[in-house]
Amino acid sequence: MEALTRWQRGWSASRGWTDVQCIDDVTVVRVGEPQRRVEYVATGQHATAAAHLALTDCNPPGTSWLTITGPADRVAADLGPLEIVRTNWLMTVRLADQVSYPVPPPYALELSATPSVVEAQAYGYGEIAATGRMAVLHTGAVADMVQTDPAHRRRGLARAVMTALALAARRRSATTAYLAASAEGRHLYKSLGWTTLTPLVVARTTG
Ligand SMILES: CC(C)(COP(=O)(O)OP(=O)(O)OC[C@H]1O[C@@H](n2cnc3c(N)ncnc32)[C@H](O)[C@@H]1OP(=O)(O)O)[C@@H](O)C(=O)NCCC(=O)NCCS
Repeated sequence: MEALTRWQRGWSASRGWTDVQCIDDVTVVRVGEPQRRVEYVATGQHATAAAHLALTDCNPPGTSWLTITGPADRVAADLGPLEIVRTNWLMTVRLADQVSYPVPPPYALELSATPSVVEAQAYGYGEIAATGRMAVLHTGAVADMVQTDPAHRRRGLARAVMTALALAARRRSATTAYLAASAEGRHLYKSLGWTTLTPLVVARTTG
């Protein structure tokens, strides 16, 4: 699934995960963090191969993670003893079609960028109120780590952050964007014109 691959590449770029390999149609991202040593990304068709890799690697229990296209009830049997942690949703939008919103006063937005990642921060009342990132790889962009501090939610900050990120990505010639939405984030992205491609089952080894 091309969208899954494009999302994984952008997600890895956003997080600075550079050790990526493909084994048996499973993308293996060696993350190297204490709680997430590795991330296996695959379509549901290759869930058994991904589960086998997770169950036979040498990482401590609970530190090998999987993201598999769902739904959960269809892939659960292939994941065997792995713990299903949650479901996210792979979403997409043509950047030109994303609905735009201004920053609500008295907040202000600041953008910073590296060659492949644009970051937006919304400030207000002396605090960082909302943040988000977009990795831009050629014509594809991937949004990541969009969050609003609980005290500043439902004021339009996340959609202002998404508006600024989309504009910056378009300036870099990106045309299509992807992201893995949480249950909470899904409402936000739907309201901005994003559509859902598939559920993503997030699982891990157990202790
Ligand atoms: C999801 C999140 C980023 C939304 O931030 P926010 O600044 O409150 O979002 P906005 O105010 O810009 O919301 C814009 C629209 O999105 C929708 N929306 C946002 N949060 C929603 C929620 N919890 N339930 C239903 N709709 C929601 C609404 O349509 C909202 O417009 P409205 O308030 O006029 O109805 C925030 O709740 C958050 O940080 N959650 C925890 C982290 C997370 O899940 N991030 C998303 C990762 S993919």
